[in-house]
Amino acid sequence: MAALLRQCQPRHDLYTVFGHAIEAMAIAVANSVDLRQREIREQRYLAIVGRYDRAIVEMFPQIMAELVLALEAGPGDVLGALFHDLELHNKARGQFFTPYSISRMMADVTLGDPGSVKAIITEHGFVSAMEPACGAGSMVIALAEAMGKIGINYQRHLHVTAIDIDPRAVHMAYAQLSLLHVPAHLMVGNSLSNEIREHWYTPAHILGGWNARLAARKLVRAEDISAMPPARERVTSAAAIPPPPNPLPASSPAMPRQLSLF
Ligand SMILES: C[S@@+](CC[C@H](N)C(=O)[O-])C[C@H]1O[C@@H](n2cnc3c(N)ncnc32)[C@H](O)[C@@H]1O
Repeated sequence: MAALLRQCQPRHDLYTVFGHAIEAMAIAVANSVDLRQREIREQRYLAIVGRYDRAIVEMFPQIMAELVLALEAGPGDVLGALFHDLELHNKARGQFFTPYSISRMMADVTLGDPGSVKAIITEHGFVSAMEPACGAGSMVIALAEAMGKIGINYQRHLHVTAIDIDPRAVHMAYAQLSLLHVPAHLMVGNSLSNEIREHWYTPAHILGGWNARLAARKLVRAEDISAMPPARERVTSAAAIPPPPNPLPASSPAMPRQLSLF
């Protein structure tokens, strides 16, 4: 992939071509499933490819084919590593991604006892994970791989929400999570101020009906809260605190239903 991309030099700026190649890839995937945003993204795709001659445009699907092959060999942050190999992280104002081996170690720590996460999945059907600064998706990919290693099908039992302020990072993460078929909702936005500019839904999210699954879980949570007695009835003496009407499963304190990655 690095060799393919370097062919664009010196006529083109490598950072710009890399960004466009990955954005075109992300659009090609998104437009196969996300019909609501299709037209505007198609226009953007045409604007990108219109900037280059035929040789460069034909290189874009070759890069995607190489990414597919690389991820077929096993999960990993292929694009994050490529970004570093091409030394684009320096140009991108010091945007360093976590080496995949470190992300894998952190994913194992996040999951902890496999029994806890399996108990949540048995009870609720899935666990969710939040990545507020996802980069190319290293930590999410590592979490998915770690779940696979303990016998959990992450394509069905994990849902990811991921945000990054840099659209290039979101395009990288989107392309990789899509190819690994991770159900995910990615956003271009600022996690600190909550300003969101774009929404990217992976094919696994759309085809798996995850909007409905997530809405159903919110409904159950709202019912749990409304079933709680009023505060004055709940706060009695320490010795006589009544159990809540819908007690949380024993696994909940140790393993929240949403895992946080950062
Ligand atoms: C050090 S990288 C880590 C990326 C990824 N978590 C990893 O481990 O590889 C930090 C990322 O945070 C993003 N970022 C910085 N400030 C942000 C903000 N306010 N909201 C969302 N993302 C932000 C950057 O664009 C960058 O991709």
